[in-house]
Amino acid sequence: MKFVVTAGPTREALDPVRFISNRSSGKMGYAIAEAALAAGHQVNLISGPATIEPPKGARFLAITTSDELHRAVHRAVRDCDVLVMCAAVSDFKPANSASRKLKKQNAPFTLEFVPTRDILVSLSHESRNYFVVGFAAETHDLEKNAMQKLRKKNCDMIVANDVSKADSGMESDENAVSIFCRNGESRKISRAPKKNIARELVKIISKMSEKCLTKKS
Ligand code: C5P
Repeated sequence: MKFVVTAGPTREALDPVRFISNRSSGKMGYAIAEAALAAGHQVNLISGPATIEPPKGARFLAITTSDELHRAVHRAVRDCDVLVMCAAVSDFKPANSASRKLKKQNAPFTLEFVPTRDILVSLSHESRNYFVVGFAAETHDLEKNAMQKLRKKNCDMIVANDVSKADSGMESDENAVSIFCRNGESRKISRAPKKNIARELVKIISKMSEKCLTKKS
């Protein structure tokens, strides 16, 4: 199967030297790309700034902003069977990015932010022949928020993790996830190295997507 995997954070520029971003390391997305390759799938990895080497054998595209990721994903899904949206996309960006470095000020000041385009939502109205996996990083009400995202973002599967704990989730080498599917099935993968979680996820995604895509064709 052809996998498109997004990974890492996005960066939104405030001026030529400053940006707003998040703590995503890209480890989970890269591990999924690696596990999908190891399982014999083709992988197109689209990544925000990360310090990890892309897995050998993957087609790789580096992006920086949420708008660049939006364009790259829309292009990539034209030829894919599974989209895994693991990237931690900025939910908002500065209303204006200054072309010159902002001067230091000695008084408090306010910056205006605007929402970014939600990539998953933007794909949800197209008639799709690929399986969509979204991620939900939550600090509370994990199941309720994940189920809401599954519906709102029209995903076939949501992988949710609790990011309120310092020892798993963002930046960590370990994770623990709950998986919720559109057909009502759910699964838990307890705390383990991200590479192991990724292997398990790829197995589940392959099985579920085959079922789902066979039904559509
Ligand atoms: O709404 P939230 O950011 O928590 O949703 C997370 C999921 O939505 C992830 O799969 C992420 O890649 C995706 N997302 C997106 N476009 C955005 C923000 C998040 O596709 N602008």
